[in-house]
Amino acid sequence: MDVFEAMRDRRSIRKYLDLPVEWDKVGSVVDAGRIAPSSGNLQTWKFIVVRSAEKRKALAEASAQQYWMEQAPVHIVILGVLNKHERFFGQRGKDLYAVQDCAMAAMQMMLAAHALGLGSCFVSAINEERVGQIVLMRGGERPMGILTLGYAAEHPSMPLRYRIENVAYLEVDAGLAYVQGYAPGRIADFDDSVTNWRFAERGINYVRQAAEDIDKLTKEKRKGLFHKLVAKAKSKVTAKGKE
Ligand SMILES: Cc1cc2nc3c(=O)[nH]c(=O)nc-3n(C[C@H](O)[C@H](O)[C@H](O)COP(=O)(O)O)c2cc1C
Repeated sequence: MDVFEAMRDRRSIRKYLDLPVEWDKVGSVVDAGRIAPSSGNLQTWKFIVVRSAEKRKALAEASAQQYWMEQAPVHIVILGVLNKHERFFGQRGKDLYAVQDCAMAAMQMMLAAHALGLGSCFVSAINEERVGQIVLMRGGERPMGILTLGYAAEHPSMPLRYRIENVAYLEVDAGLAYVQGYAPGRIADFDDSVTNWRFAERGINYVRQAAEDIDKLTKEKRKGLFHKLVAKAKSKVTAKGKE
């Protein structure tokens, strides 16, 4: 599966079929987390695979009673190991890098799951202390989230996303005409490319719609025309035959 296709079509799945997930697929998903980028390549994460129904129920309860999680046959609890981050990068390592590392791993696991035909959902509304107890956390770690995994029983479409011009800026954190002193007016290249892209998108839609309208409006007439042409051709053939 193409990476762009995987990114676009992956969805958070909250309804699962009552089917087990093949063990090799679980392994492949965890392996995708293992090879994710991490700060200083520390890789100080742990992925705890949970299959036990009892533990999954407890994890769902510890996740703000999100009972839908129970349906997923596999949970992967993602733990960040904090003390190594602190030793290498101080407070920032512990507070930020450890979280970012686990988020990177989670994203890779979700894409891998999708590429393998599985559904997943990253859940981070969790009671960290309780989750730690359920998986017998040894200490010095922080539960960052739980990835639910299984065969999807729903196929939601993509929840609304902002358009690119609402979230992407060039050089400075400001909108088009509001950059005082830096580039009064417009940030030409980038704005142009976004704008051109939008125009092209609109143009394509317009032409497609026009083609559909023309097709609809002329369908009946074209039908008549076609029959007329066939009749004309037939009469010519018959006339030739008679000659
Ligand atoms: C940091 C983070 C925390 C999330 N926590 C939860 C959660 O606790 N429960 C849940 O159902 N979904 C959770 N989600 C999933 C988001 O709701 C979901 O990604 C978002 O609505 C966009 O939908 P999509 O993933 O299908 O594109 C979380 C996602 C992220 C990135």
